This record gives sequence, structure tokens and C-alpha cells, in this order.
Amino acid sequence: MEENSGYPDIRNVGGTVVVDFPPSHPGHHDVAYHRRRVAIAEAAFRAGPASSAPDIAYTDEEQRVWRTVSAALTGPHVKHACREFLEGADRLDLPADRLPQLGEVSDRIEQLTGARFSPAPGMLAPRDFYSSLAERRFQATQYIRHPSRPHFSPEPDMIHEIIGHGTALAHERWADLYEMFGHTVRRLAGREAVSAVSNVFWFTMEAGLVKEDGDIKACGATLLSSCGELENIARADIRPLDTTAVQRQPYVVTGYQPVLFCAESFDHLEDVLRDYLTGIQDRK
Ligand SMILES: [Fe+2]
Repeated sequence: MEENSGYPDIRNVGGTVVVDFPPSHPGHHDVAYHRRRVAIAEAAFRAGPASSAPDIAYTDEEQRVWRTVSAALTGPHVKHACREFLEGADRLDLPADRLPQLGEVSDRIEQLTGARFSPAPGMLAPRDFYSSLAERRFQATQYIRHPSRPHFSPEPDMIHEIIGHGTALAHERWADLYEMFGHTVRRLAGREAVSAVSNVFWFTMEAGLVKEDGDIKACGATLLSSCGELENIARADIRPLDTTAVQRQPYVVTGYQPVLFCAESFDHLEDVLRDYLTGIQDRK
């Protein structure tokens, strides 16, 4: 998961892990939830970014949130998800009745496409996040969203990571696109170019749409891990995918997207991303 403003601030200050929620966060006044988030962030800091994800003993409440979200997404996925996402879901075969460990999901993805998850305590600097993608390694969180709002998370929790990104990484065509973002950011030196790439990542890999047999389908991880986001597609201003426009388009990280971009097909999405990611240069 990549750093952006509006999310909680999670940091390690001389061995003490600090988690600060913004006032709008549903866990802002929940002491037990805050304690839990600190413990899970500590586990990720202890493991380190290149290691396998540590196992977390998820609570009954966290398991309940998983079952609620998982069951609620089944119908909307059939209706709204693009073909390549549904194929990835079939291959990954996430359990609906229990919250799997990040490491267990990672092992399955690695067998399928060679991609894997490693643990992230919270927000990452964009360069850190994208650089690991060049190794087909996606740094993912392991905490679970606040139980008061199971269908929308103001930040990318593990449910978002495994349902949204994990399902995509289980499909070779998606896994190749993630890796391409990583190689592109590794060769760029400037913040401005990396920020432009982040925008394109957001409006494609997180909130992208593709046409399929005349219908508009969701292909981004943020849309596909939230019933609310999937319902919001009908209310969004949908524009043709154009990376020049996408680079300039502001996006909302803690609410539904007012503007989305749609590719003509999955092939078209791949072509647009390949052209953009191989062509972008630092400003002279
Ligand atoms: Fe994400």
C-alpha cells in the first residue's frame, strides 16, 4: 500500500510504534481498536519489509468482518467484476468462512504467478511501494478495518489487499502489469514523475474500469474490495482512459471516486499502460 494524505500515520519512533488516526477515522475514539492496530504494526516492523508475513491471531470480531465483507461481495463481483478478475478469484479461491493469513494467500499467489506479499506496517513512501513491485513483491497491510464500517475502509486494510490486489496478482496478466509499474519507478529519479505514475496506478490498478461486451466492468482493487465503491460506479463521471488526463486528475483517498476512467477492453488497458510506463521520462 502506498502513502497518501488522509490516512492514519503509523511510524516506528526509536522502537516504539505510534499509530495516529485522523479525527474522521472510525477507530479514532476506540481504545481497544487502537491497541490492536499498534500490535499488528509492531509485528510488521519486527518482520521487516522483505520477509514473509508473520501470522496474526485474528480475533472473532475480525473474523466476523471478513465473513461479512466476503459474503457481501460475492453477488456484486459476478455483476461488476471484469473477466480477468473473476479468473484470478477462481484460481486464488479465498476462503469465505475464515480470514486467511497474508502469508498463506501469498504462498498460493506465488505458485500461480510468482508474485508474493510481504508485510507493511502502514503507509509507505511511493518509491518503496513501487520498487518492490519490480520483484513481483507487493507490500501489504495485515490489520482489519474498523468493525463499525465493514463495507468501506478509509485506508487499505488486509481485506482490500487480498481481495483486491491478491486476486489480481493471482492472474498472470495482472501480475505483469504490477511488475511493470515497479520497473518504471525504479528508473525514474524525480518525485514529479513518480507522482504522475502514482496517479495512473490509482485510476487503473485501484479504480480502473474496462468495457466488456458493451458493459462497463470494474478492474481496480479499490473498487473490487468494496460494495460501496462498486455501487458508486453508477454515479461516477466515467471518462475514456487517457493517461494525459489521468495524470492531472485529482483522486479521493478516503471517499468514493467522483471521476473514473474506462479502457475499451482489458487488451486496451494493457496497451495503454505498457505505452505509458515504457515512455514516461523524468523532466529534463
Ligand atoms: Fe490498494
